Amino acid sequence: MQHDESGKLTALSAPHAATDTRGRPLADLRISIMDRCNFRCPYCMPREKFGEHYRFLSSAERLSFEEITHLARLFVSLGVRKLRLTGGEPLLRSGLADLVGELSSIDGVEDLALTTNGVLLAQHAAELAANGLRRVTVSLDTLDHETFRRMSGGYDGLERVQDGIRAAIEAGLSPVKINTVVQRGINDSQVIELARHFRGTGVILRFIEYMDVGNRNHWDAGRVVPSRELRDAIAAVYPLDPVVGAYRGEVAERYRYRDGTGEIGFISSVSQPFCGHCTRARLSSDGVFYTCLFAERGTDLRGPLRAGANDDDLLALMLRTWRQRDDRYSELRRKPDGAQPLRKIEMYYIGG
Ligand code: GTP
Ligand code: 5AD
Ligand code: SF4
Ligand code: SF4
Repeated sequence: MQHDESGKLTALSAPHAATDTRGRPLADLRISIMDRCNFRCPYCMPREKFGEHYRFLSSAERLSFEEITHLARLFVSLGVRKLRLTGGEPLLRSGLADLVGELSSIDGVEDLALTTNGVLLAQHAAELAANGLRRVTVSLDTLDHETFRRMSGGYDGLERVQDGIRAAIEAGLSPVKINTVVQRGINDSQVIELARHFRGTGVILRFIEYMDVGNRNHWDAGRVVPSRELRDAIAAVYPLDPVVGAYRGEVAERYRYRDGTGEIGFISSVSQPFCGHCTRARLSSDGVFYTCLFAERGTDLRGPLRAGANDDDLLALMLRTWRQRDDRYSELRRKPDGAQPLRKIEMYYIGG
């Protein structure tokens, strides 16, 4: 590992460049800051499985901000340029803006974004932006109060989420993106209304196909609405043109409204998987490094870190993990050996 005069770790180049068995570089790191959430969306943390007695991580089990920053620096030295903070709900972790300040000052970080359900965003947006957060993505599945209650597991937070979106725009955390998971028979009738609502606001709405992440969300293929169907329905009302020149590894297929009122995206991980360009690593809130959203197991980094491993040892472990990576679950909807994963990690634990 190299250090500059101030003792800061500096990016290493060629010898450490990490590519996996399919030639995919390590370019993004998604860090789950907090496994808890203040919602219970049935497609992610269904209330009957994540009730009062569910055992979440203790604060001692979660990585400290210092540990997260330490590992993020090492990931950056292996080629990561984009960091995304996720959860659970990352804004449940107090002092998150301090962590943002630390991460934004790592040399080599070109993008720093946050995914949140938006309920606590209004009170934190300005401070997060001031500390170096670049962008925010808010999960919002509907503009209808009753559907919102149903899709959040019984909470009335729609107004607060909308306040959060406004605060993020005012704080300059743009482009603000909205992630909408679409489920047939639940919120698919509301996609045109969502498109209408966000057109012309600068906010980029993205529809996500309902995925079979984790083992606890009763996934049902019949509830997946293929992006093509949504795109055709929207284009029939608001004509769309494809946006070309997306960056390698981008998950959303992007379109522009023909009348110049902005952009919309579709994330089709079920109908059109994008594993071929997947450059994303994930770090759970207890410090396990996963190479796929659908992984069964990962590489523990917290253990060696807390046992005093030096940076070269940690880097070697991280590099070995990425170099052995062969994941492409969404392309196969099973493991490379043809079997179904027995215990996939859960979305709330690993972040979206
Ligand atoms: P930008 O930085 O704004 O481009 O973000 P992004 O396009 O990576 O989007 P975001 O992080 O908001 O991810 C949107 C959604 O896409 C997630 O919530 C997941 O549902 C899905 N997604 C993201 N990454 C992956 C992935 O690696 N595999 C699969 N199957 N789905 C993913
Ligand atoms: N399918 C698709 N997206 C999901 N998310 C959570 N669970 C699922 C699922 N089963 C999305 C949320 C949020 C992000 C963190 O992950 O809507 O935008
Ligand atoms: Fe919480 Fe997001 Fe999961 Fe909903 S999808 S329960 S808001 S982490
Ligand atoms: Fe990447 Fe795994 Fe998602 Fe494929 S399924 S895009 S390999 S995280």
